[in-house]
Amino acid sequence: MKVAALIPAAGSGTRLGLGPKAFVEVAGRSLLARSVAALAPHVNEVLVALPEDHALPPGVPARAISGGATRQATVHALLGATDAEVVLIHDAARPFVPAAVIHALRGAADTQGAATAALPVADTLVQAGEGAQHWGQLVPREGLWAVQTPQAFRRELILRAHEAARRSGESATDDAGLVARLGHPVALIPGDARLFKVTTPGDLQLALALAPVWDA
Ligand code: CTP
Ligand code: MG
Repeated sequence: MKVAALIPAAGSGTRLGLGPKAFVEVAGRSLLARSVAALAPHVNEVLVALPEDHALPPGVPARAISGGATRQATVHALLGATDAEVVLIHDAARPFVPAAVIHALRGAADTQGAATAALPVADTLVQAGEGAQHWGQLVPREGLWAVQTPQAFRRELILRAHEAARRSGESATDDAGLVARLGHPVALIPGDARLFKVTTPGDLQLALALAPVWDA
């Protein structure tokens, strides 16, 4: 069975403020190179989507296409560029991908069609009061999971979910959400704290602190 890793890397990295984020380096390797290296040993092909005016850096073992204006459009373009039966969709902005999570996701996609890495929420959750940044209503965190990537799908299923969203003009921040909207179950696979997304300068500091341990 052919499995492809699809890596959306076409974002502009506005919140980080260092240019297109996939090309930002952590301890000598870009977020893109790290994500590709983590996934490549586990799949038959790696496809990345880059900003239009960017080329694939040398030494990154992948095929590149141009991304879209939104993450959702980028993933739709990636889905159209592979004929793999199973796809692992993973944000370039999450450079530390444990192999055990990849294995568990592949297995779950085979048997259930759709799966995402996710972690039970550990913090107290509160809905801010209306019109102000103050404590409003406590949200019980029991049963709540924070969704990460990778997410794994039978390609036929995730493509159908994207097509349905395009037709109805709906959007979601991730791909599993689009599958769930079809009424199809999505397996929650225990993710990993190291799968955090590098979004802000503080996240980049965390990545810099983790990289020497990860690379050792
Ligand atoms: N992404 C993409 N195409 C887009 C927007 C985002 O491929 N049009 C990718 C990013 O490159 C990233 C992932 O989706 O790997 C998650 O997005 P995010 O963390 O929001 O990255 P950016 O959109 O680059 O950052 P920002 O929102 O701060 O501009
Ligand atoms: Mg974004």
